[in-house]
Amino acid sequence: MITIKTKSEIAQMQKACTIVERTLLLLRDMVEVGVTTEQMDKEAKKFIESFGATPSFLNYNGYPKSVCISVNDQVVHGIPDGCKLRRGDIVSCDVGAYFEGYHGDAARTYIVGDTSEEAKQLIKVTRESFFKGIEYARAGNRISDISKAIQAHAESYGYGVVRELIGHGIGTKLHEKPDIPNFYDPRMGLGAKLLEGMTLAVEPMINMGSEKVYVLENGWTVLTYDGSLSAHYENTIAITDGEPIIMTMQLEDF
Ligand code: MF3
Ligand code: CO
Repeated sequence: MITIKTKSEIAQMQKACTIVERTLLLLRDMVEVGVTTEQMDKEAKKFIESFGATPSFLNYNGYPKSVCISVNDQVVHGIPDGCKLRRGDIVSCDVGAYFEGYHGDAARTYIVGDTSEEAKQLIKVTRESFFKGIEYARAGNRISDISKAIQAHAESYGYGVVRELIGHGIGTKLHEKPDIPNFYDPRMGLGAKLLEGMTLAVEPMINMGSEKVYVLENGWTVLTYDGSLSAHYENTIAITDGEPIIMTMQLEDF
């Protein structure tokens, strides 16, 4: 069942989303040579808890940390550890926060120092593909309109669109209906019709090479099969009677 939120429920959910946005900005400022992803996780946890919120991912299906930090060929669900960031790394930070009954969820890929032009393009195009997708995030359209636009943009650069992981509805639960694939397959149909009051996490995961991925022995971390770089860009949005609200991007355009 797809839940519809009233305007006042969305205003309430905005609080969790703003905590997520602030946490991503904190992580952006921490990304530096020599910092460990464990340090980033610790700071993010403290920061989220300082608002009286809880990290949505901590203990979710047994996930052991507060945020996901996925470096280079890690696509998503990188588990923070003692490894130090190195110059040129690309670092996907995924944050969820739960506050007074609602979740927010968003992700960004940051650069340690400077990186190659091709890595910068991957990050830029992944972000652009999100915005191409949400041009269709309007009442009356279908989920697949968003999916098709994301896929078309990423594939026009020869990039691989990850199939195994997808966006999702979000609200009182981290993962709600509907599914929001970043690709279109006629076998899955056009998807749900978008209605005012739906809140969605739209999250393209884009590989520089093949779309193929595999999961590490830890049961979480997803990596590109061919070792190519991967980028992630996610926001929680709300469908309105006009343009969508980008709930996890209200403070800064990033
Ligand atoms: N943003 C991701 C998602 O929506 C992160 C989930 S990590 C998990 O699925 F640990 F919570 F699963
Ligand atoms: Co998500």
